[in-house]
Amino acid sequence: MIIGHRGVAAIAPENTLAGINAAADSGLNWVELDTQLTADDVPVLFHDETVDRCTDGKGRLDSFSLEQLTLLDAGAWFNEQFRDECIPTLHQTLTLCGKRGMGVNLEIKCYEETDVALLVEKVAEVVKETQFPLDQLLLSSFSLAAIKCCAEMLPDYRVGFITDQSSPDFLCDIEDLELFSIHCDQRTLTPELAEAITQKGYQLNIWTLNDAGKVQDFVDMGVTHIITDDPEMSAP
Ligand code: G3P
Ligand code: MG
Repeated sequence: MIIGHRGVAAIAPENTLAGINAAADSGLNWVELDTQLTADDVPVLFHDETVDRCTDGKGRLDSFSLEQLTLLDAGAWFNEQFRDECIPTLHQTLTLCGKRGMGVNLEIKCYEETDVALLVEKVAEVVKETQFPLDQLLLSSFSLAAIKCCAEMLPDYRVGFITDQSSPDFLCDIEDLELFSIHCDQRTLTPELAEAITQKGYQLNIWTLNDAGKVQDFVDMGVTHIITDDPEMSAP
């Protein structure tokens, strides 16, 4: 199964509503999206620690209130046709995904200064407010602290661990967490690690694969879900 990375980052600005619509229009059923908190503690979609790369503003994302953030243009950097696209709230995002029947792999994006418990608390509030269906949401994070908070605050939802490690040693550390999936970096995943993951019964996802020529090798390793910027890459 193909999951659009940051919406569908090759064809629309990442982590935007336009990106989610583009993913749905291109036939995808699932998108991976990143969420962080604004200065006034509203979960929004955004990947980087600063707004510099993906908007016309400058500075740390968490130094902007929601009102200030929505004044930034989050589309023109990608292509002029997306000018006036805003950074969306998580609430707007889940509402749109619900309407379009899209599943969401929501990455809880944690940087050094992130208040992890607060971020997950605010995400959990939105998930509950929007009554997002259990089978249409997969939470994930590189942060084990975030994963533990997800298990506490959204106990019925599935959770995955994102990693770029190539040794299976980390599997001991996560044994007690009752995780659903492991999301491996396609650059570092080895057949040995893939076998260790699938043997333990986890769903195995990879990110971010944009090379159609490598798909079969990963499928042979037991990968079932591929996160890609470019859904066309999976065409034979
Ligand atoms: O969720 C998988 C992938 O998105 C992790 O890396 O940096 O693109 O968020 P990044
Ligand atoms: Mg991500």
